[in-house]
Parts: sequence; structure tokens; C-alpha cells
Amino acid sequence: MFFLIAALTFSFIVKAQDDRQEIINDIKPLNKACFDCHGQQYYTYTNENTGQEVRKEMCESYLLDDSLYYQSNHFSFACIDCHSGDYESYPHPPAARMEQLYTCTDCHGFTETDQKYQFSKIEDAYYESVHYEREGDNFSCWDCHDPHSYVVKARRTTDIKEIISYNNAQCLECHANEDKFKLLTGEKMNVLEQHDWLPNQQAHFNSVRCIECHTAVDEELLIAHQVMPADSAVRNCVECHSQNSLLLSTLYKHQVKENRKKNGFVNGVILNDSYVIGASRNETLNKVSIALFILTLGGILVHALLRIFITKKR
Ligand code: HEC
Ligand code: HEC
Ligand code: HEC
Ligand code: HEC
Ligand code: HEC
Ligand code: HEC
Ligand code: HEC
Repeated sequence: MFFLIAALTFSFIVKAQDDRQEIINDIKPLNKACFDCHGQQYYTYTNENTGQEVRKEMCESYLLDDSLYYQSNHFSFACIDCHSGDYESYPHPPAARMEQLYTCTDCHGFTETDQKYQFSKIEDAYYESVHYEREGDNFSCWDCHDPHSYVVKARRTTDIKEIISYNNAQCLECHANEDKFKLLTGEKMNVLEQHDWLPNQQAHFNSVRCIECHTAVDEELLIAHQVMPADSAVRNCVECHSQNSLLLSTLYKHQVKENRKKNGFVNGVILNDSYVIGASRNETLNKVSIALFILTLGGILVHALLRIFITKKR
């Protein structure tokens, strides 16, 4: 029975991968021309006036990684599903630059899968965030969700470190990248200096997500999207370093839920994956106390049995 289930599951996974690969094989030729230029450091084109072949360097911010693209959520897309068909000619006609780009909720919010992801609730939270409040329409969902590489992480993996580094990179892409930040504000910014007060800063940035401290906790969303102004950020150590850690309702929310379903043990995840001072109990002590408990129970049982046995004999 076990082998049957295992074999079925395996063939299902293989099939899903096959389907995905098939889609990619169909879509690749459509995107080839775009990637020939946008996928490598140097590109060539023919100068129509001189007939000469020209070799140029692709500007870094227009350079895309095709392997990340085909691993992303939107792997099944032709470039011109999102971009204007005008881009098929080069030099790109100026009108193409004026294209109006789709936003997430132009396409999402209608299917059952979309309900699961709660697009409309996320959108509402985003409109309350500092990014929207300060930058308005210059900022969009795409600024954190790279259109050419975004993948779902927190929902799909149980590797906490991987989630943290992926999610933090989404923020650091701007907040630790002066050029990109200046593009929006004209100012320089170095988030590392703003967190001098936090001891073991590097350890914290590797073990907690930016959004843990910078968003309003939202029990209904897996990923809270309301980024608050810096003066409302979590600064209080006890918010995390305690039995009732904030992390249980944010980063570990999904895992805790899954775990509760499986073994009904709320603290299971946090104890295994991360050692947060105060949030974890000593495992050995736990085991010792369970052992003591069983021994006591056993003692009582033996005692009771003996009594019954002896009373009967009399
Ligand atoms: C011959 C090389 C070449 C090909 C082929 C090419 N591009 Fe480009 N693309 C460029 C260069 C160079 C730039 C930056 C300069 C400019 O805007 O013309 C650019 C800029 C862009 C931009 C940014 C425009 C902006 O807002 O500044 C987009 C979007 C784009 N290309 C999409 C595409 C898509 C989609 C395809 C395929 C259908 C494609 N490109 C094919 C060379 C190319
Ligand atoms: C799911 C929709 C989507 C798909 C598919 C897509 N793009 Fe984009 N692309 C966007 C959006 C949105 C932006 C603007 C990003 C921003 O403003 O931050 C963009 C921006 C760009 C830029 C400008 C540089 C940048 O990152 O801002 C280039 C170049 C580009 N796309 C090329 C491509 C090519 C080539 C493909 C196909 C391999 C492609 N895009 C597929 C949505 C898409
Ligand atoms: C042009 C339409 C379009 C736009 C714009 C778009 N998506 Fe998608 N998205 C799709 C389609 C189609 C799929 C693949 C089919 C599916 O699973 O719904 C998809 C897949 C996804 C998935 C994976 C769903 C799953 O479980 O497989 C996520 C998450 C997602 N998109 C988020 C976003 C976000 C966030 C944005 C904006 C930053 C966005 N999408 C913009 C059309 C779009
Ligand atoms: C300030 C950065 C930021 C902005 C802006 C942003 N997001 Fe996100 N979003 C994230 C992060 C971080 C995640 C977690 C990614 C992961 O681990 O899967 C996420 C996850 C998501 C998910 C998946 C949630 C789930 O339950 O798995 C959806 C859907 C989504 N965002 C939609 C949007 C939409 C729609 C907008 C614009 C209205 C938006 N996001 C704007 C940072 C942002
Ligand atoms: C596309 C670039 C970009 C990305 C990505 C980005 N931010 Fe921002 N962020 C900004 C800009 C621009 C401001 C506004 C600065 C200003 O005008 O004061 C800002 C403001 C903030 C503020 C308010 C600072 C204050 O002075 O009150 C916080 C907190 C913040 N961001 C956190 C985050 C977090 C957390 C993420 C990731 C989930 C993130 N940001 C992703 C560009 C970005
Ligand atoms: C342990 C909680 C915590 C974590 C984790 C954290 N921050 Fe902060 N952050 C704060 C607090 C508190 C402030 C306010 C500091 C002050 O005003 O002196 C702040 C300030 C900021 C500011 C505003 C800086 C300014 O100009 O005043 C930005 C932007 C920011 N953080 C982004 C981030 C990003 C990006 C990450 C992830 C790499 C991150 N934070 C991780 C608590 C945190
Ligand atoms: C958002 C949650 C959060 C907040 C707020 C927070 N911490 Fe932490 N802290 C963590 C996590 C998670 C770790 C686990 C790091 C590890 O072991 O990898 C940690 C680790 C530590 C460590 C051990 C570092 C090491 O190298 O092992 C110290 C010390 C610490 N925190 C002190 C503080 C102090 C003091 C404050 C308040 C100023 C604070 N933390 C605020 C989540 C938090």
C-alpha cells in the first residue's frame, strides 16, 4: 500500500514537471529574440544606414537572467504577454516606452487559487503602506515582486533560512542599493546604519525578516503587506524574545498551522528551526520531565495492580 502511494505521488510530481517543461519548451522560441539581447552582457544588431553589424553592452538594469525567468511564477509567459508587441522591432519605437503595464490585480483575484493568496486584502494593505503613501504611483507591487524572477517562497518551503534571505533580498534590493533608491527619492540611504541599536545586527538580519519589525501584524494574511513608518517599527526585544514571540504569528504562522494540523504541538517548529532566547524551552529537560511523568504513572499502575491482586487473594 505504502509503495503504491509513493509510486503514485512520484509519478504525479514527474508529470507536473513534464508539463512545466513542455510549456517552457513551447514558450522559449517566442522569447528567444528578446533574450538574445536582454539575456546577455553584449548584444548585436545591424545598423540599417551603414549595413554594419554593431556590438554593444547591455545596460545592467535591462539585463535579465533567463534561468530565473523560467523558474518564476510567470514562467509560462511570452515577454509580449506583458509588454507591448512594439518591442519586437529594434530599435524599440518610442511609443513602446509609454506602454501602460499591467498590475497584479488586473489578472489576479478571480480564480480560486487567487482567493487563497488573498490578492484583494493584500492590495488594501499595500495602499496603507508607507511606500504607497509617500511614493504614490511611482511605487508598485512590481518594486518588490520582480516581474522577471518572482517566486512564491514562504508558502512553499519549510526552510526558514531560505525564506528569510529571499524576503529580505526583496527589501535590500532597494534599501541597500543606493542607485535604485536614488531613482525614487534622489537621496542616499543605508539601512545598516539605521539599525546600529540592534545587537548582533548581522545575526538578526539573517534570522528575522525586515517585515517582522516593519509591518502591522495581520492575522488574516500569511504575508502582512502594510509597511509602517520607521517610528512604528518593533524595537522591543521582548516582542520576539519571549514565550509569546511575535514570530509565532508572523514568520512561523504557516509552519505552526501546518504543524498543529500534524501533531497539535504549537511550539514544534520554533523549537526545531530557531533558537530564540526565551521562546524555547530546554528540550532535554522536556524529555526528562516526560520520562519522570511516565515513570510516576507506571509506579501508580503497578501499585494499583498489586493492591487489586493482594485484595483478591485475601
Ligand atoms: C537588438 C537587441 C534587442 C532586442 C532583440 C530586444 N531589445 Fe529590448 N532593449 C534593447 C536595448 C538596447 C534597450 C535599452 C535602450 C532602449 O530603450 O532602446 C532595450 C529596452 C527595452 C525595454 C525598456 C524600455 C524602457 O522603458 O526604457 C523593454 C521593456 C524591452 N527592451 C523589452 C524587449 C522585449 C519584450 C523584447 C522582445 C520582444 C526586446 N526588448 C527585444 C535591446 C533589445
Ligand atoms: C508578468 C509580466 C511580465 C513579463 C512576462 C515580462 N515582463 Fe518585463 N517588465 C514587466 C514590468 C511590470 C516591468 C516594469 C518593472 C518596474 O517598473 O519595476 C518590466 C520591465 C522590463 C524591462 C525594463 C527593466 C526593468 O527591469 O525595469 C525590460 C528590459 C523587460 N521588462 C524585458 C522583458 C523581457 C525581455 C521579457 C521576457 C523574457 C519580459 N520583460 C517579460 C512585466 C513583465
Ligand atoms: C498579465 C497577467 C498577470 C499579471 C500582471 C500578474 N500575474 Fe501572476 N500569474 C498569472 C498567470 C496566468 C499565472 C499562472 C496561472 C495561475 O496559477 O494562476 C500566474 C501565477 C502567479 C502566482 C503563482 C500561483 C500558483 O500558485 O501557481 C503568483 C503567486 C502570482 N502570479 C503573483 C502575482 C503578483 C504578486 C503579481 C504582481 C506583482 C502578478 N502575479 C502579476 C497572470 C498574471
Ligand atoms: C514592500 C515590498 C512588497 C510590496 C510593495 C508588495 N509585496 Fe507582495 N510580498 C512581499 C513579500 C516579502 C512577500 C513574501 C514572498 C514569499 O516568501 O513568498 C510577498 C508575498 C505576496 C504574495 C503571496 C502571499 C502568499 O500568501 O503566499 C502575494 C499574492 C502578493 N505578495 C501580492 C502583492 C500585491 C498584489 C502587491 C501590490 C498591491 C504586493 N504584493 C506588493 C513584499 C511586497
Ligand atoms: C523599489 C525600492 C524599495 C523597495 C523594494 C522597498 N522599499 Fe522601503 N522605501 C523605499 C522608498 C523610496 C521609501 C520612502 C523614503 C522616504 O521618502 O522617506 C521607503 C520607505 C520605507 C520605510 C519607512 C522609512 C521611514 O523613514 O519611515 C520602511 C520602514 C521601509 N521602506 C521598509 C521596507 C521593507 C520592509 C521592504 C521590503 C518588504 C521595503 N521597504 C522595500 C523604497 C523601497
Ligand atoms: C528587530 C527589528 C528590525 C528589523 C529586523 C529590521 N528593522 Fe528596520 N528599523 C527598525 C527600527 C526600530 C527602526 C527605527 C530606527 C530609528 O528610528 O532609530 C528601523 C528603521 C528602518 C528604516 C528607516 C531608516 C531611516 O531613514 O530612518 C528603514 C528603511 C528600515 N528600517 C528598513 C529595514 C530593512 C530593509 C530591514 C531588513 C533588512 C530591516 N529594516 C530590519 C527595526 C527593525
Ligand atoms: C523581530 C524579532 C526580534 C527582535 C525584535 C529582537 N530579536 Fe534578537 N533575535 C531574534 C532571533 C530570531 C534570533 C536568533 C538568531 C540566531 O540564533 O540565529 C535573535 C538573536 C539574538 C541574540 C543572539 C545572537 C547570536 O549571535 O546568537 C541576541 C543577543 C539578541 N537577539 C538580542 C536582542 C536584543 C537586545 C533585542 C532588542 C534590542 C532583540 N534581540 C530584538 C529575533 C529578534
